[in-house]
Amino acid sequence: MTDTTRRRLFVGLAATAAVVAATPWLFQRRREHDHAMNPTAPESHTGPGLPNAQPFQTPLRLPGREGLFAEVALSAPLALSARAASFPIFAGKPTPVWHYAGSVEGRAVANPLLRAAQGDRVEVALANELAEATTIHWHGLSIDEANDGSGLHPVAAGARRTYRYTIDNRAGLYWYHAHPHERTGLQLQRGLAGLLRVEDAEDRALGERLGLRWGERDLPLFIADKQVDADNAIVYRIGADDWIGNRVLVNWTPEPFLEVLPALYRLRLVNGCNARMLRIAFDHQGQTLPFRLIGTDGGLLAQAWNMDDVFLAPAQRIDVLVDFGALPAGARVLLRSLEYVAMENEDESGAFAPDPMGDHPGAAPMGDALDLMQFCVAACSDGQRRQAKVASANVPAALSALPAPPDTAGWPVRPIRLRMDSDGTWFINDWNYHQVGHAPVFNVKRGSREVWEIRNNMTSMPHPIHLHGFQFRVVSRSISPPDVRSRKVAPQGLGPQDLGLSDTVVVWPGEIVRIAIDFSQPYSGTQRYMLHCHNLEHEDMGMMVSFAVED
Ligand code: C2O
Ligand code: CU
Ligand code: CU
Repeated sequence: MTDTTRRRLFVGLAATAAVVAATPWLFQRRREHDHAMNPTAPESHTGPGLPNAQPFQTPLRLPGREGLFAEVALSAPLALSARAASFPIFAGKPTPVWHYAGSVEGRAVANPLLRAAQGDRVEVALANELAEATTIHWHGLSIDEANDGSGLHPVAAGARRTYRYTIDNRAGLYWYHAHPHERTGLQLQRGLAGLLRVEDAEDRALGERLGLRWGERDLPLFIADKQVDADNAIVYRIGADDWIGNRVLVNWTPEPFLEVLPALYRLRLVNGCNARMLRIAFDHQGQTLPFRLIGTDGGLLAQAWNMDDVFLAPAQRIDVLVDFGALPAGARVLLRSLEYVAMENEDESGAFAPDPMGDHPGAAPMGDALDLMQFCVAACSDGQRRQAKVASANVPAALSALPAPPDTAGWPVRPIRLRMDSDGTWFINDWNYHQVGHAPVFNVKRGSREVWEIRNNMTSMPHPIHLHGFQFRVVSRSISPPDVRSRKVAPQGLGPQDLGLSDTVVVWPGEIVRIAIDFSQPYSGTQRYMLHCHNLEHEDMGMMVSFAVED
């Protein structure tokens, strides 16, 4: 179940936990220690220890007509099969990928990028051709239990199920992925995931105003690290911790490059990694290229925020505007994850040095810098340059009609505590899914509004906490680590990323994050949903509960 080496070592350490909690500077020591153990490790880990891994040689895959990442409108019912097949992804041998395969007007599509509009009625039939149960979970959608695709409703090997629902959410980039009990990490690492783009009038108007056409200067970047062996196969070990990888796929392209105009681009980033938190930045010759954050998990923010870098945890999405307009032809801009203090304090003691990299040869350790892809600025005419300037100046002060976070005075507060016990089991309050099972651990009244106060132990690690079925608002952050505190732009310790709609929120060690949830929904009866850590190894180890919404 858990990584025994690491966890067994932890048992003797409970006593030191209190000391660690009181001395945050120890977190830094761990990082120095990592580097000391491997003094020749380069700062950047692109070009991992595998042959032929030259980065930025492959053009970025864009939403296309067929194959992986093909774009498919959900205006007609869609039939998908979960199956294994090989795709040429890396140089050399093809890679076996578990994926959702379909045929749309004679085109074979795999893990298609689905497109729909708010209010659409959609129908997706799943046939499971794998040798184990799977699902399609619609991450971020307001949806009923039966169609949510959580592990409560597995589709057995050889079985079928049809998901039918109306899209309630506002415009945004959502996603879908497998969610079988205890096998989510494995199935996502193998490939069972895709994007769902929802449009609405507000979002369309912004695109038109900025002159940013989807697929041209409005692009999705679906980022996932994979642990790949010398035969180009994706490796996974059930029961391992935090599955990080030695290769980076963006839109299923390894460490790609994209030729861009010296102009404004809208990029919609999705962290599809099992466990790796990214600290996203654009780098031009060692200088940060600032960007504007315009949206989060649940769509557009009320206003744009200038930023140099932003944390993007597993399952989170960000929508950003990047202006390449001031750069000369031939300039190269790296999309990278900057170094950060990973705060993996749960095994922080200094008394032992487990080898977290044993399963991940060639991978950058969590928190190390990592190059994701490269943009190459193309030559263009003065006219094109002028046009680009116009677009950049056109970004409206009010991006969307998103209301301010609610005043939660008087709302009931539900405490949620994230912690690891002394034998290395993750808990949400006193619940671990392996111990509690599918039974809801609490009930919420439909139509009620609650504040959930999520508190993470100091001897813990950052947990991206995800709620099914409801988008929520972050209303306060306290006892945040310096990297988070320094991003504050609003009262209550909130950073730009906290000011939109979210379905996944990072709670750092020691932090207390309050979220406000409105449990209104158009369904009746008992609807069960999941609350879990979207570090998929934590989820599969039981850092998950189900709760029920009832009248
Ligand atoms: Cu994206 Cu319960 O998951
Ligand atoms: Cu979800
Ligand atoms: Cu976690």
